[in-house]
Amino acid sequence: MTQKAQALGIGIIGGGFIARFHIKSWVGVRDADILGIFDPDTKRAREACALARSLGVGEAKPYASITEMAADPRIGALWICAPNFTRGEVMEEISQAVVSGKAELIGVCCEKPLGRNVREARKMLELAEKARLLDGYLENQVFSPAVVRGKEIIWARGAALSGPPYLARAAEEHSGPHMPWFWEGTLQGGGVLNDMMCHSVEEARFMLTPPGAPRSVLTPVSITAYTNCLKWQEPKYAAILAKTSGGKTDYLRRPSEDFARSLVEYKNQAGKTLVVETTTSWCYVGAGLRLSMELLGPEYALQINTLDASLRVFFSREVRGKAGEDLVEKQNAEIGLMPVVADEAGEYGYVAENRHMVQSFLKGVRPEENFADGVAVAELLMAAYRSAELGRTLPFPIKGLESYIPPVAQGKWNPKA
Ligand SMILES: NC(=O)c1ccc[n+]([C@@H]2O[C@H](COP(=O)([O-])OP(=O)(O)OC[C@H]3O[C@@H](n4cnc5c(N)ncnc54)[C@H](O)[C@@H]3O)[C@@H](O)[C@H]2O)c1
Repeated sequence: MTQKAQALGIGIIGGGFIARFHIKSWVGVRDADILGIFDPDTKRAREACALARSLGVGEAKPYASITEMAADPRIGALWICAPNFTRGEVMEEISQAVVSGKAELIGVCCEKPLGRNVREARKMLELAEKARLLDGYLENQVFSPAVVRGKEIIWARGAALSGPPYLARAAEEHSGPHMPWFWEGTLQGGGVLNDMMCHSVEEARFMLTPPGAPRSVLTPVSITAYTNCLKWQEPKYAAILAKTSGGKTDYLRRPSEDFARSLVEYKNQAGKTLVVETTTSWCYVGAGLRLSMELLGPEYALQINTLDASLRVFFSREVRGKAGEDLVEKQNAEIGLMPVVADEAGEYGYVAENRHMVQSFLKGVRPEENFADGVAVAELLMAAYRSAELGRTLPFPIKGLESYIPPVAQGKWNPKA
């Protein structure tokens, strides 16, 4: 019998909501096992480890610190899944563990957004470079099978015969985040624009980029954005946020945007104008999370809507079960005709994303979606905030973006003031 090659050991930093998605996705990932979780909330760490073990995706155990986990020779790469406001300290500790020789790692992956602003995102990239780590930016939507397959077909058939696509539309909408820290502009980095437009701008840019071409073939030339707080600043809804945060979140005085849109104009290498249109909201009350995407060109169109699911169930008014998220992420109802996303970890792109990161690390090559992309996304988002703040279209590149902190991230934004 041939000897089995050793699997890459993965340590996850932060054992909350998104870590559970990654762990579930691991049933479709080869050549790597989840062996550790670090979370200062030790109950969360134990629960995440138990989930990994129960799914058979690795003999995960909790660690007392990032350094301890990184220094364990079983661990070869780390996945950063902690809240946005901890990015800097987490990456500093990883980088320090490697540079000081305590840890030997191949790579690090980081959830979106890479930083709360351009400076933080660039710092993440610098720290990864300093420690000579391969870096993966966890933007799951560019790995979603519908997006990847749709792009392949559109470019191979429609674009090849009638010309490249000129317009990509992306929308990411749900009824609001699950934890209080997401709602605090200072902790999260903004409102829905920072939290969800990061997906839309990147996925739409990916669709407009010819297959296999580098990011540099499209140059952003201008951005126009708009933000507002349409629902959650209403006293009735602000009271709900205050209650669920133990009185900390004050949307009457310190709201963040629950609706944002942007229009990014790009030029391709032939000098042709391409447009990305995004819209995102925390005030969409439909069945649950809705991701939509359109790609339009001279003689074709593509469309994706994750709530157009192939599985639907119906429960009559006699079925009064308890509230859950078992049918779809950010589910809003339990009765009536409900769409079910049967394999969320697969359909949203986590399985393919994690396979790509693991295979890249094992081959010793930089993942296709990496921290440089995370920085580019942060630049687009900060430019969008600045455009919304000034109420006008801004040409790229924008001066002073490195030091720009949007008013919402300073706790100083209030559209009703
Ligand atoms: N790709 C996506 O669609 C997607 C979806 C949700 C969240 N996210 C991103 O994932 C990250 C985590 O979000 P979440 O929804 O899991 O949040 P969460 O609040 O559910 O979980 C975060 C976990 O991190 C732990 N934590 C706090 N400080 C830490 C530290 N210093 N080191 C390690 N762990 C720490 C918390 O105890 C908690 O268990 C965020 O950056 C978020 O933007 C991405």
